[in-house]
Amino acid sequence: MNSIPTHVSIIMDGNGRWAKARGKERAFGHMAGAESVRAITEAAGNAGVKYLSLYAFSEENWNRPDAEVNALMELLLRYIKGELKTLMDNDIRFVALGHRERLSDKVNAAIDATMAQTAGNRKMTLVIFLSYSGKWDIMQAMKKAAATLSPEEFQAMELPDFDRYLVTAGIPDPDLLIRTSGELRISNYLLWQSAYTEFYFTDVLWPDFREAEFHAALEEYARRDRRYGKVK
Ligand code: FPP
Repeated sequence: MNSIPTHVSIIMDGNGRWAKARGKERAFGHMAGAESVRAITEAAGNAGVKYLSLYAFSEENWNRPDAEVNALMELLLRYIKGELKTLMDNDIRFVALGHRERLSDKVNAAIDATMAQTAGNRKMTLVIFLSYSGKWDIMQAMKKAAATLSPEEFQAMELPDFDRYLVTAGIPDPDLLIRTSGELRISNYLLWQSAYTEFYFTDVLWPDFREAEFHAALEEYARRDRRYGKVK
């Protein structure tokens, strides 16, 4: 039994369809999705998960209509500021990772403040991926390594050495990756880091994904046999 995964990651999908089914704007679905974020953060902490990471905004999401991008950024800003007390009360460290140069100064300032204030919290780390893409991460890691190392050191680099240049440096690779809403793809998420991750797909739309659905995913994970390419 693998019991509880150390790191659970989630591609939160289906907010738009959830809103459309109710005859509402897409932003209404994102607001309901933020409630699921709160519920799943609490459920993960209670279950003993040490790292919960959420794909909140991809590099590709910048191509959505301005109104939706703005609504999402406003929602994220409100969340990052508004959740501080809950994060402190629950001993949760907050980390935001991604191509942060593309985020507004306002969003970056809120991220920096919440990260600094929660840096000492130890029960669980909540990672929000913002303006993130897996290919971008690998590319920026390569550039960082090339700029830091001598040509000889660069050539001598081993696989584990490369991890420290990714934005996820210091965070263990996800054990379990959940994607909601029935889509069966990785969508340029944690490409490098998910080499041996267990995948769990559900048709449930993200705003409907709550504690019971999270526990169903953990139960399925506990039944998986992880062999990492070896024979057991
Ligand atoms: C995918 O649904 C979801 C997103 C692009 C945004 C995820 C953001 C949240 C859940 C909001 C708040 C986040 C935090 C951390 C508070 P979609 O819009 O692609 O849905 P669709 O596929 O049905 O159109």
